[in-house]
Amino acid sequence: MRLTTNLTTTFTRLALGSAVMLASLGTAQAQDDEVKIGFIVKKPEQAWFINEQRAATEVGEELGFDVVRLGGEDGQAVLSAIDNLNSQGAEGFVICPPDVRLGPAIMNRAEQYGMKVITVDDQFVTASGEPMEGVPHLGMSGYKIGQQVGNAIADEMEARGWNPEEVAALRITNNELPTAVERTDGATEALLESGFSEGNIFDAPQQNSDTSSAFSAASPVLAQHGDYEHWVIYALNEESVLGGVRATEQYGMAAEDVIGVGINGSGAAFAEFSRQNPTGFHGTVAVSSTMHGRQTAEDIYRWITEDQEPPANTETSGTLMTRDNWQEVREELGL
Ligand code: GLA
Repeated sequence: MRLTTNLTTTFTRLALGSAVMLASLGTAQAQDDEVKIGFIVKKPEQAWFINEQRAATEVGEELGFDVVRLGGEDGQAVLSAIDNLNSQGAEGFVICPPDVRLGPAIMNRAEQYGMKVITVDDQFVTASGEPMEGVPHLGMSGYKIGQQVGNAIADEMEARGWNPEEVAALRITNNELPTAVERTDGATEALLESGFSEGNIFDAPQQNSDTSSAFSAASPVLAQHGDYEHWVIYALNEESVLGGVRATEQYGMAAEDVIGVGINGSGAAFAEFSRQNPTGFHGTVAVSSTMHGRQTAEDIYRWITEDQEPPANTETSGTLMTRDNWQEVREELGL
């Protein structure tokens, strides 16, 4: 099956120069011969990933290749997704892995099938925890975006006239994921530079990267430090910051006593900004998931069809989005 697909694809590419031969292919067959790529994400239900996969499909429609969207929420699911792609004749895939340490196992399976691989958002690491070389990656510039989060929180604290010494920070961490650590480290550094007290930063380690794991991590930390009136919240993404904000609400804190700033700029943030009354979710640093999806899908397509290897590492930047400007930023970033 695989061999047949390869031969057919090679034949079609050779034939592309010949309008006569191409014209003789029936529409159905021409479609079968379209290059096929996979797009596997760790959380297919999260707004960021929904948009990223949608954007990949769209660029495929524009350039004439097929995108198979799959979820890979754990190692087993990813490996069966790769088997599935192979049986459909896909020649490569883009992936945001559920665990970056799965990199070597994923590459092993992909290489067995001769598939090309690009990581998006979360970069594979080796057994010793170093970024895995040889697999092109596109992801946000974690530390810089984290600093934007920290600066946005500091500015809003100043606007509200809070005394930094009396404010507590809920830092929702995910230490298993390097980009998550970079993001919260960047935010911490910016906050400390603005005069925030290091002793007022409390860690809430989460087991995942979603709202419910952040809510569970945040609740006990708030309970332990009930003496603070003002809280700021940051994390690797807006879903997690929202978990922290929901925990403050459950704890009876008012929106004006909480400043949460997330990262992503996806449907989760739009829904929050669309509520009639402001919540403790002050803003989010928006990054274009549309660009992440389009660029990586196009990169793998060009790699397959033109043997053009993508850059080893591409870092993307972000823009602060708040209740006041979210619609403009959304449009600007094509979200
Ligand atoms: C990680 C997070 C996602 C999103 C992406 C963006 O995968 O879990 O929510 O922030 O990074 O790169």
